[in-house]
Amino acid sequence: MISGTLELREIDRWSGPFSGEIRDRAVDALEDGLVLYFPTLPFRLEEQEQCLLSPAVANGKAKNVSLDPLSGSVKGAAPDADRARLHAMLERFAAQATQLVSELFPAYVSGLERARTSYRPVEIEGRSYSALKDDKLLHVDAFPSTPTHGRRILRLFSNIAPAGHPRIWRVGEPFQDFARKFLPSLPRPNPVTAWFFAAVGATKTRRSAYDQLMLALHDGAKRDAAYQKGAPQVEIDFPPGTTWLCYTDQVLHAALAGQFALEQTFHIELDSMADAARSPLRVLENLAGRSLAN
Ligand code: SIN
Ligand code: FE
Repeated sequence: MISGTLELREIDRWSGPFSGEIRDRAVDALEDGLVLYFPTLPFRLEEQEQCLLSPAVANGKAKNVSLDPLSGSVKGAAPDADRARLHAMLERFAAQATQLVSELFPAYVSGLERARTSYRPVEIEGRSYSALKDDKLLHVDAFPSTPTHGRRILRLFSNIAPAGHPRIWRVGEPFQDFARKFLPSLPRPNPVTAWFFAAVGATKTRRSAYDQLMLALHDGAKRDAAYQKGAPQVEIDFPPGTTWLCYTDQVLHAALAGQFALEQTFHIELDSMADAARSPLRVLENLAGRSLAN
């Protein structure tokens, strides 16, 4: 049985303070691999932002519009899109998401990095991609050019679509069960390949053994049609006006349908976790019987 979500109806604003009891429940469920679901926490668009609810604001090459926190630049927008408005909406969402995460998980603050913010205005259903790029298939997040070396990937989503357009996800079995099934058949991490990709600039830093295994798990799950069909999974519908949050490097997830979502990515140091033994790095090390950090 997959429990899938922890519903936190009592959280209906982006700022705390939140009670110790709620914070403890939230961090425990999050690190356990549940999706924290806030059914009464909407991200509200301003009146003048309603015009951004159109797939035409994306440039078509990129499916998402994104905000880079370092440069402050907006990427992936159509040439005639209102960049200033997009920037303001993305920045306000990022600030609210950061406030919620900081106040709900105060122990994370010292190890928290606000990464990219994205706006996803294109309908998912009906899009076709190669299997490896297709996020309609169950996967854990692992990105070819950005090794994490075990730092966590935490993502917060808000559905800002008009009424009647849920974002539909599926979530799969616990990471440990998934990893145990796939690990024996994965290629062994290869330090020479990792060095080569870094040397030619294909990766931002050198992939650790952990990064190589996470990519192999991402690809292995997406390529395995029998696993996609037969693996334990539950569907979760997130209606407009709701927000959710999970460790996408741990939760097997697939986004099947939906349009108009905002997403904020955070990276979290393992040392900041309440129980780092539940992180994918430690779970994989435990299964492999060796360190995977290098
Ligand atoms: C994903 O992270 O795989 C996609 C999630 C979404 O856009 O809802
Ligand atoms: Fe994903």
